[in-house]
Amino acid sequence: MVKKILFFASGNGSNFENIVHFFEQDKKVEWLGVLTNNPQAGVIERGQRLGIKVSVFSREEFTNGHLLAEVQLLKPDWIVLAGFLWKIGPDWITHFPNQIINIHPALLPKYGGKGMYGNHVHQAVKENGELETGITIHFVNEEYDRGAFIHQAKVALEASDDVKEIAAKVHALEYEHFPRVIATLLNEREDDYQKN
Ligand code: GAR
Repeated sequence: MVKKILFFASGNGSNFENIVHFFEQDKKVEWLGVLTNNPQAGVIERGQRLGIKVSVFSREEFTNGHLLAEVQLLKPDWIVLAGFLWKIGPDWITHFPNQIINIHPALLPKYGGKGMYGNHVHQAVKENGELETGITIHFVNEEYDRGAFIHQAKVALEASDDVKEIAAKVHALEYEHFPRVIATLLNEREDDYQKN
């Protein structure tokens, strides 16, 4: 059964592109598109280059039910947050329970919550002198970065690593793990469908 996947992204989109490349030969995946809140986001150029539909939406469309209604018509099997920075409202969770997954660039529950994204996370990790960091892939629930964990991976840090080096180590982990975790989820749900 073909699985329909929709992305949300706010920034560069390198995870989005990496995931799309990973599934290049996979006929069981259909990309519904990329939705972004940021008209300047790098993900827009990436989507266009990869031939995947990109749409920019406003805060109002995101919160007044307009975008949710449109997304419901698309019937996604999965919604993947690949560097999406706005909080997902409860109406989205109700309509897509355990179907929205997020990647966070730290070992949650540490370094999560409002304002903790991208380099803000790596800066805090650096300031606390952490000797390891990592990634957390999790289901999205009503609370920022508090949904059930699906997968975590760690990487060691050197005391001399600066924020840029920490970010590069975390990105490398993301590229390695995020597509594989998505592939596993697709297969697991496939088993569930077949059992039912
Ligand atoms: C990634 O590191 C992702 O973990 C992070 O944003 C970056 C997006 O990079 N997400 C968050 O901080 C969510 N709180 P990308 O646009 O190059 O994929």
